[in-house]
Amino acid sequence: MITGSKITLRMFEESDLDAYAEIVNNLSNATPYWPPGLQPRANLKKEFAENSFWKPDYKLLLVTDKEGNMIGEVETFKSSPNIKGPEVGFRIFEKKNMGRGFMTEALRLFSAYLFQTESSYLRLTLLIHSGNTASLKVAEKCGYKKEGTLRNAYVDYSTGIPHSDEILSLLREESPSLIELLQKK
Ligand SMILES: CC(C)(COP(=O)(O)OP(=O)(O)OC[C@H]1O[C@@H](n2cnc3c(N)ncnc32)[C@H](O)[C@@H]1OP(=O)(O)O)[C@@H](O)C(=O)NCCC(=O)NCCS
Repeated sequence: MITGSKITLRMFEESDLDAYAEIVNNLSNATPYWPPGLQPRANLKKEFAENSFWKPDYKLLLVTDKEGNMIGEVETFKSSPNIKGPEVGFRIFEKKNMGRGFMTEALRLFSAYLFQTESSYLRLTLLIHSGNTASLKVAEKCGYKKEGTLRNAYVDYSTGIPHSDEILSLLREESPSLIELLQKK
């Protein structure tokens, strides 16, 4: 468990899965910047039983608020084969919890945690929809720097129109240490 001043990052427990399935399958929480696909509860439970959502090339942590409510998630997944470090993803589930500084703190702590625990990582990569101003701002506040644009990389979930993603990265030497961050809070 990683406890910041506004949020906590923690691993999933089996008892989280029903509430998690409810929240991720409530498509009224969908935004244009996150795939709106349904995730069958049975599949989530099967995957959790196999790997606790924690594997070398896929790590998923819950973000909770100070009251312990499930408010979001952060994850890593494999980037291109030879890149020394994963791609990172993040989201806040519900609109009522957006714009309250939760993800800025969550991403900063998660990035520092990854560098502290994975000595082979040289960088963390983010791909962010060019129109996702809030997400780009979170990334930049956490020290990620823009490297370029993946032109027409994806088709927009809501409109079907091709869109570009910005590529951002944080290098190991640019990240504060986790201990430093935890002492500051
Ligand atoms: C994008 C998202 C991750 C941001 O997380 P958050 O916890 O709401 O962000 P924070 O509260 O930490 O705020 C980040 C900054 O963006 C700003 N911001 C928030 N919404 C904004 C908007 N629509 N336009 C411009 N800036 C915005 C905030 O004001 C804040 O800047 P400030 O501290 O200088 O005022 C979250 O809203 C989310 O999950 N959205 C839906 C899914 C998604 O887009 N996921 C990311 C995919 S890469």
